[in-house]
Amino acid sequence: MKLDIRGLSKAFDEKKVLSDISLHLDGIRSLVIIGPSGGGKSTFLRILAGLLVPEAGEVIINGKPIPTEESSLREYRKTMGMVFQSYNLFPHMTAVENIMLPLVHVHGYGQEEAREHAMGLLARFQLSLHAEKKPALLSGGQKQRVAIARAVAVSPSFLLFDEPTSALDPEFTSEVLDVIEELREEGKDLILVTHEMGFARIVSDYALFLDEGTVAAAGTPEEIFDYPAEERLRLFLAKVLKY
Ligand SMILES: Nc1ncnc2c1ncn2[C@@H]1O[C@H](COP(=O)(O)OP(=O)(O)O)[C@@H](O)[C@H]1O
Ligand SMILES: [Mg+2]
Repeated sequence: MKLDIRGLSKAFDEKKVLSDISLHLDGIRSLVIIGPSGGGKSTFLRILAGLLVPEAGEVIINGKPIPTEESSLREYRKTMGMVFQSYNLFPHMTAVENIMLPLVHVHGYGQEEAREHAMGLLARFQLSLHAEKKPALLSGGQKQRVAIARAVAVSPSFLLFDEPTSALDPEFTSEVLDVIEELREEGKDLILVTHEMGFARIVSDYALFLDEGTVAAAGTPEEIFDYPAEERLRLFLAKVLKY
């Protein structure tokens, strides 16, 4: 993916959350974002997803600017898949219906065609047996894999993950990370916010350390995880890797 960000700023009620971020990346397949809580990671991701409009600045992904006007934003959102920490599945719908919903309502699939496509994805993520279950009957790892299947279903131009394993019991973390690693190996462009440093190190082509609304460090996984030069990054890694 190619990412050009110029002078990106976002505030909530006078509080600056992203301050004048500029970034130029090319030829990156997976971008990982790390940093302390409250540093602006989710806000940054929501802007990239077209869910939030910045006060200032411009984001150009693969040569196309993210629109700021609502009707074009709606079109833009169709081209990406986002996975949230909290799954965001509809509780009254089964796994397969959750995946079918955007296919039918946003992408114009017929019911049969959508079901077939959704069942194919469930099979791919080893979830066929759970197709007719509602989220309450699924484990956290299964729910998150359904959410990933839903995001992938629409063949997005890239995938955004916001702490996809933070709400999971530890035994379910690897089944979700395996799926993300698989998508990366397939060549899907992805941007991932995570606190799983070991995974971040393996899966990233490039990493950003977002702290207090600025990119405090950026570099290859070696530069960020193995030889961190920036002081705040060193402190952050020391803290999260302590135990
Ligand atoms: N919708 C919102 N309204 C007001 N403040 C917000 C909103 N979303 C985020 N913030 C604030 O912006 C800051 C950055 O939040 P966030 O982007 O969620 O950081 P991170 O994901 O790195 O933890 C936090 O101080 C948070 O309280
Ligand atoms: Mg967050």
